[in-house]
Amino acid sequence: MSAPPATALAWASADPYAAALRAGRGPLFLRRSDGWLLPLEVERWCARADRVDRDVLDRCEGTVLDVGCGPGRLVAELAARGRAVLGIDVSEAAVDHTVRLGGQALRRSVFEPLPGEGRWDTVLLMDGNVGIGGDPRALLGRAAELLRPGGLLIAETAPADIDERVHVRITDAHTAAGAAFPWARLGSRALLRHARGWERAGQWTAGGRPFVALRSRSTSSSAEPPKRTALISSQRARKPSGESPVADR
Ligand SMILES: C[S@@+](CC[C@H](N)C(=O)[O-])C[C@H]1O[C@@H](n2cnc3c(N)ncnc32)[C@H](O)[C@@H]1O
Repeated sequence: MSAPPATALAWASADPYAAALRAGRGPLFLRRSDGWLLPLEVERWCARADRVDRDVLDRCEGTVLDVGCGPGRLVAELAARGRAVLGIDVSEAAVDHTVRLGGQALRRSVFEPLPGEGRWDTVLLMDGNVGIGGDPRALLGRAAELLRPGGLLIAETAPADIDERVHVRITDAHTAAGAAFPWARLGSRALLRHARGWERAGQWTAGGRPFVALRSRSTSSSAEPPKRTALISSQRARKPSGESPVADR
C-alpha cells in the first residue's frame, strides 16, 4: 500500500501543531481552501482520557494500535491498565509526548510498514482520524491489513451526516499556514457506506461524539492468534524519537 505522503508530511512538519502540543493548548485549526476553519481540540487531546474515551477503551480487545495517537492520552490510559498498546503518529512532538506519558509510540505513517501487521486485535481511529490520507477506503483497507482476521476497528466519526474530501492546512490563525494536504470528514453513515467487506460491530454516541465499530473479515490465510510478546518486543526494538517519518524496515 503506498502512502499518501502529503498528509503525513504536513502533520509531521507543522510547527503550529508541534507548538500546540508542547503548550497543551490551541487555538489550532484545519483550514479549508474556502477559509472555513475546523477547530482542533488540542486541550482535550492533551488532557487525560475522559469518560467517553474510557468507554471506547473498555470496548477494545487484546492488543491495540492507536493510529494517529497525537499526544497519547489513549495510549497512556491503556498502558496504565496493563494493556499491550502502541501509538503511531507522524508528528515527533506527538510521539515524544506519548512516550513522556509512559506509552509506547513510533514515529511512523499508518501507510508505512508497522510492527505486528495482520496481528493487531484492535485498531483505533479516534478524534477524526478517519480523515487521515483523505481517502477513507484506502485507510479502511490499510486498517484491515493491520488487524488480525476478525479484528476490531473503532472509529470516531463526524457529528454530522457528511462525506467530504477536502484539502486543508494546519493553522493557528496567526502564522502562515503550511502546505495543503488531503483530509476527509465522514459521519457514521458515510463510514458504514465505505466499509464494504467489514461487519458492523456497533454504533453509538457518547458526549456528543459518534463512534462506529467494525469487524474485519475473519477469513485469511494468516489466521494466527496475536502474539503479545512478539508485538511488544518489536515495538521496543525501535526508538521512537530518533526515527524518520519515512519508513525503514
Ligand atoms: C486529528 S489529530 C488526532 C489526535 C489524536 N487522536 C489525539 O488523541 O490527540 C490527527 C493525528 O494524526 C496524525 N497523523 C496524520 N497523518 C498520519 C499518518 N499518515 N499516519 C499516522 N498518523 C498521522 C497527526 O500527526 C495527528 O497527531
